[in-house]
Amino acid sequence: MTQIENKKQVKSKQRVADHGEVFTNAREVNAMLDLVKIESERIDSRFLEPAMGDGNFLVEVLNRKLKSVDEKYKSVQFEWERYAVIAISSLYGVDILHDNAIECRTRLFNIFESRYSANFKQKCSDECKRSVRFLLQRNILWGDALDFTNPETKKPIVFSEWSAVNGSMLKRRDYIFKFLVEKTHQFSMFNDEGNVGSIDEPVKDFPLIHFLKIGEDDAD
Ligand SMILES: C[S@@+](CC[C@H](N)C(=O)[O-])C[C@H]1O[C@@H](n2cnc3c(N)ncnc32)[C@H](O)[C@@H]1O
Repeated sequence: MTQIENKKQVKSKQRVADHGEVFTNAREVNAMLDLVKIESERIDSRFLEPAMGDGNFLVEVLNRKLKSVDEKYKSVQFEWERYAVIAISSLYGVDILHDNAIECRTRLFNIFESRYSANFKQKCSDECKRSVRFLLQRNILWGDALDFTNPETKKPIVFSEWSAVNGSMLKRRDYIFKFLVEKTHQFSMFNDEGNVGSIDEPVKDFPLIHFLKIGEDDAD
C-alpha cells in the first residue's frame, strides 16, 4: 500500500527566498497525479519534474508504478526486477540545488530497495541495485532548468532515454535537454550528412545493454 509521507514543506526561509523552495505535500501530489491516474500507474510512462525539489512527485509516481509491478510480476523475481528497472528508468528530474538532487536519488532508491527486499529478501541481487543506482545517477540531475546547464560546470544538461528492446536489453540514447525543450535550436543543427538535424537525433547512441549490466563498467 502507498504510504503518504508527512514531511516539512519548508527547509529554511533563506531557501524559500533564494529559490522558492516550498514543497508540495503528499495529499496534493496524489490529487494531481489522480488527474493522470492511468499514466501514473503505467510502468513505462515517462515523467519529468523540472524543479523537482527532493522529488515529491517522482516519489509518488514511483510508488504507483512499483505497485503495478508488484501486482503483475511479484511471483517471478527476474520479471519483477526487469519491470522495476524500467519503472526507474522512466523517471527524470532536475533541481538547481545539489542537495535536493542527492536527496531525491536517495528517496527513490530507498523506495525501490524496500519493495525489492520485502518481495525477495535475501535473494535480492547487488547487480539489480547497481543498475537502479546508475539510472538514478543519470536521470535525476543537478541543473538549472531555465538555462539548461549544470550550475557549477555550466555544461549542458544531457538526459538519457532508455528503451526496452528484445526483453532484457535496454537501449540508451542521450539528448541535450535544451534542444528537447527549445525545438527551434535543434533545427539549426546539422547531421553527419550535412542535412538539417531532426529533433529526434541523439547526441550519443549507446550499444544495447542487459538491464542487469547497467553501470557495470563505471563509465558515465
Ligand atoms: C516550489 S519548489 C517545488 C519542489 C517540488 N517540485 C515539489 O512540488 O515539492 C521549487 C523547486 O525549484 C527549484 N528551482 C528553483 N529555480 C530552479 C531552476 N532555475 N532550475 C531548477 N530548479 C529550480 C528549487 O530549488 C525548489 O526545489
